[in-house]
Amino acid sequence: MAALIEQQVEIQEEEEVEEFQLIEKLQQLGINQGDIKKAKEAGYHTCDALLMNTRKKLADIKGLSDAKVEKLLEAARKLCPNHGWMSAKTVEQQRSKEIVKISLGAQAINELLGGGLESKCITEIYGEFRTGKTQICHTLCVTTQLPPEQGGGAGKVAYIDTEGTFRAEKIRAIAARFDLDADAVLDNLSEEFNVAVLITNQVVSDPSGGAMFVADPKKPVGGHVLAHASTIRISLRKGKAEQRLMKVVDAPNLPEAEASFQLSTEGVIDYKD
Ligand SMILES: Nc1ncnc2c1ncn2[C@@H]1O[C@H](COP(=O)(O)OP(=O)(O)OP(=O)(O)O)[C@@H](O)[C@H]1O
Ligand SMILES: [Mg+2]
Repeated sequence: MAALIEQQVEIQEEEEVEEFQLIEKLQQLGINQGDIKKAKEAGYHTCDALLMNTRKKLADIKGLSDAKVEKLLEAARKLCPNHGWMSAKTVEQQRSKEIVKISLGAQAINELLGGGLESKCITEIYGEFRTGKTQICHTLCVTTQLPPEQGGGAGKVAYIDTEGTFRAEKIRAIAARFDLDADAVLDNLSEEFNVAVLITNQVVSDPSGGAMFVADPKKPVGGHVLAHASTIRISLRKGKAEQRLMKVVDAPNLPEAEASFQLSTEGVIDYKD
């Protein structure tokens, strides 16, 4: 089964925002090294980790008195002044600042997905053979690198190819379509931290899925395990000739809807009726 699951990870390099404050930094605020070591040994490596736990839990750290825990927390709060509850408005503002939407290469399916493949989120695309999963991955390898004004994330890409279907020539053709230097694009395909994650998945026939009523029932491989790993689930099916249809099956912020795109030498393009 593993051979059927092709996976791809899409990456953006974020601006140099330090997301975590390492616990070692507390030394600058007068916490002694020995106490920091004790907290680390108990599994607390960041100031956030300290602030996310209750005093009662922190009191379990071997060798730290209540007073010392209090001092640790006080120092951690100074290093992470924004830690704690946030209003929904702040969450909304932060999200809109941080989230990147990466173009899939065709307008209609970008709109379907609320702008494109979303960062900080795992999206799963499933569909039977030749529905365009690999083509979408190849297209995203290039669009991820475009500047944001052109629907990109100005980022790099890590492609985990479990099927052996990755083709550099395909990337060259798609890069040319977007007027990008193919060698630079290929250089940016590497391994880094993830931001937007895309998993592709095959389908199997599902004879139990109401075969009496559905002509050709199909369900994604991986069952509930993969289903719960992803935030957004998208299905693909074939249309006329090179036409493909994408459907949002499950997404927290998108309506259940469908849109067409087309497969071509240059990857995913707008559907031409
Ligand atoms: N140059 C091209 N022009 C038009 N269509 C093309 C071109 N190259 C490939 N295709 C179409 O792309 C489809 C294959 O897409 P893709 O490899 O992305 O499918 P897939 O969903 O990954 O399938 P599988 O499950 O077998 O891996 C085929 O239908 C093929 O005809
Ligand atoms: Mg494929």
